[in-house]
Amino acid sequence: MNILLLGSEGQLGFELVKRIRDLNFALTAPLMADLDIVNREAVVSVAKQTEPNLIINAAAYTAVDQAEEKVEVAFQVNRDGAANAALAASETGSRFIQISTDYVFGGDGCEPIKEDAETRPLGVYGKSKLEGEREIQKLLGQQALIVRTSALHGQNGHNFVHTMLKLFSTRPQVRVVDDQIISPTWAGWLADAVLDLARMDCGGIIHACCDGAVSWYEFAAAILEIARPALKENQSVELIPIPTSEYPTPARRPQYSVMDTSKLSNLLGRKPMSWKDGLRAHLGEIGYPG
Ligand SMILES: NC(=O)c1ccc[n+]([C@@H]2O[C@H](COP(=O)([O-])OP(=O)(O)OC[C@H]3O[C@@H](n4cnc5c(N)ncnc54)[C@H](OP(=O)(O)O)[C@@H]3O)[C@@H](O)[C@H]2O)c1
Repeated sequence: MNILLLGSEGQLGFELVKRIRDLNFALTAPLMADLDIVNREAVVSVAKQTEPNLIINAAAYTAVDQAEEKVEVAFQVNRDGAANAALAASETGSRFIQISTDYVFGGDGCEPIKEDAETRPLGVYGKSKLEGEREIQKLLGQQALIVRTSALHGQNGHNFVHTMLKLFSTRPQVRVVDDQIISPTWAGWLADAVLDLARMDCGGIIHACCDGAVSWYEFAAAILEIARPALKENQSVELIPIPTSEYPTPARRPQYSVMDTSKLSNLLGRKPMSWKDGLRAHLGEIGYPG
């Protein structure tokens, strides 16, 4: 396989690069500094030069709160950039995989969300990602594979796990919201799932996140449990659950953001990894064996 990967320096991109190299596939993974996905001619030109049979777009503007201010940039990257990547796939006849998000949903239900559920993004980030999905489908129809994931964490990048580890080593008390429910997803697991899907004949939208549902508070408690032996001896940390109303953010978040992954399980013939095993794998890689 000959893969053109956009967004190779991000959390997911980093894990994809490792695995694509292990699989000995040909890989072109331009850095953000060398290829801005907003630049249509440049994206199409790189694709024409490298003649991939698969383009994966893991590049995105993922700063959910900042997107509320930087509306134009969010849409340029998440809508126009995604459309440019899809156009490159169309012009080179290659397969296309787009990574999208649970934030295309409003999250006001209480049952895992299926692929065909009504979308209702609450903020600019979700809206821009949804528009990206639509542009891709306009160009490539059901041939494009759109993989929606959630609450990603991995060794390379900024994420909730790394933020908590920093707070645990510097603060005696850490307050975390306990009324938003998520499926924390390890980027390493997602990279494996994406590459498995890449070798199958499938398209359309697929939900892919680790198994299980917890609040951010419960997720933080699990991080603390595994990381505690590595904290300084006299470091005590008290975790305090708080409601969202006590932690206002520029962007509203979905309350219940758990996606139904049965379509993925049926395709892969296995259930997704549990969120806790994903967390253990991530923490093990960065020196917290638990
Ligand atoms: N993170 C999450 O919790 C989460 C949840 C659900 C879905 N997702 C989706 O999953 C995918 C991967 O997320 P991630 O967490 O790996 O994201 P990430 O760590 O933020 O990585 C995204 C990468 O895209 C790059 N990028 C931004 N603008 C670009 C541009 N104009 N041209 C080229 N590259 C550009 C970023 O570079 P800079 O860092 O230099 O800006 C970064 O390296 C994204 O599609 C995201 O929307 C993420």
